[in-house]
Amino acid sequence: MQSIRLAWPAVAGALLAAASIGATAQTSGPIKIGLMLPYSGTYAALGTAIENGFKLYVQEQGGKLGGREVQYFKVDDESEPAKATDNVNKLIKRDNVDVLVGTVHSGVALAMAKAAKDNNTLLVIPNAGADAITGPMCGPNIVRSSFSNWQPGYAMGVVAGQKGVKRAMTITWAYAAGAESTKGFTEGLEKGGGKVIKDLTLPFPNVEFQALLTEIAAQKPDAVYAFFAGGGAVKFVKDYAAAGLNKTIPLYGPGFLTDGTLEAQGASAQNMLTTLHYADNLDTAKNNAFRKAYAIAYKSQPDVYAVQGYDAAQILANGLKAVGGDLSKRDQLSAAMRKTAVDSPRGKFTLSAAGNPVQDMYLREVKGNNNEFRSVAVKALADPARGCKL
Ligand code: PHB
Repeated sequence: MQSIRLAWPAVAGALLAAASIGATAQTSGPIKIGLMLPYSGTYAALGTAIENGFKLYVQEQGGKLGGREVQYFKVDDESEPAKATDNVNKLIKRDNVDVLVGTVHSGVALAMAKAAKDNNTLLVIPNAGADAITGPMCGPNIVRSSFSNWQPGYAMGVVAGQKGVKRAMTITWAYAAGAESTKGFTEGLEKGGGKVIKDLTLPFPNVEFQALLTEIAAQKPDAVYAFFAGGGAVKFVKDYAAAGLNKTIPLYGPGFLTDGTLEAQGASAQNMLTTLHYADNLDTAKNNAFRKAYAIAYKSQPDVYAVQGYDAAQILANGLKAVGGDLSKRDQLSAAMRKTAVDSPRGKFTLSAAGNPVQDMYLREVKGNNNEFRSVAVKALADPARGCKL
């Protein structure tokens, strides 16, 4: 009995100490940020650009967000949906991060969103456009600094319709992003009186395009819409030009087809038209300062992924400022992340109730190593957020 009586105060003391460590972690000490991004595979360069952009913003704030130091934890998700749940749990359960930032690939991001909901962890998505995440899966703890797959696709469909395209074909990888991007394109094109005569797909991340290019040549559509990104986009644009198709059938796409890829694509991408929420030469004080700072920090030019990483940090900072860095004020923090306009290199944008950017979609043209602004294809485009109930 004696030993039990002695043991209880010790246990209670230990529990109290543990609880107060938990409470302190909410209000002081470093904020633990879990970066789950692709650092290998076809999207590797995209992951690096996102991390660079995120860290650039944090550095500009003196290394702090909401007055708190930042501690990073990193996982290479390999753009591999089958490993996504294990990978995200390393950050949530092993590293006990306060905030998840990721990822690029929609299939991986869907697993992250599920885990974030199940564990009530904050999630900021710096790329993956899976429509469902700000649709049926939307939640107060999830926001996106990028786009929904529907957005740039829809804008390109509208532009193609205005250009008189009547018969188009689409080509993409068979996964959520490709399917949703081409669906958005089809919707925009049909508004302008055109239609998609055939959707071509191949498994992610395959790059054996030859048989599909032969089929395009045989069908002779008025235009082709392609969703590819990273290494796959480099190869596709080069193969399309090598087959001579770019001389007779315009190749359109969401801007991912030519973003961060132009040095490698060279002549094959020149004069291509794409739609996206960013253009390299936007002549604003914010974009000029961002591009200069990025080039100095990383000895390379930023792209849309770097912008999205930068803005993911800004969105998080907006929330943390509103609560003075106190993570225990979760509802207030989540609400402030959504309510504050973001002063982005792409131009100022707001977040919808579902947590997705409401933003201008630009028509861009490739000139040299830049995606140059041509016009606003669709102003303040909001994702329809079909199925989102908050
Ligand atoms: C996606 O999987 O949602 C995705 C990947 C790369 C992009 C855009 C979207 O460039």
